[in-house]
Amino acid sequence: MPRSSCTVRFPNSEFSPIALEPHQNLAEVLTVQNSPVLFGCRTGICGTCLVRVGGDIPPPDRDEREMLDILAAEFPQARLACQIDVTNDIALVAAKER
Ligand code: FES
Repeated sequence: MPRSSCTVRFPNSEFSPIALEPHQNLAEVLTVQNSPVLFGCRTGICGTCLVRVGGDIPPPDRDEREMLDILAAEFPQARLACQIDVTNDIALVAAKER
């Protein structure tokens, strides 16, 4: 049965969990909510939204993978928050908190 809601948590921070619908635009939701994740380009180019992700979500596409190889090759859980397709409950840690 498809999920009707996904929860985004921010472990080890004072930020409250945020609920969103599956496939909802994460960058838009996190921008209007209080979150530790900052955004710049929102197109997967600048790397401002680099995060570490815990949870089962679709893997990065080729363009995101290329950016991650440049920005955080040593962190297999690294993702660009503006490119994540949220399909499950996830935990996000902003790159600056690593
Ligand atoms: S906001 Fe620029 S890569 Fe995500």
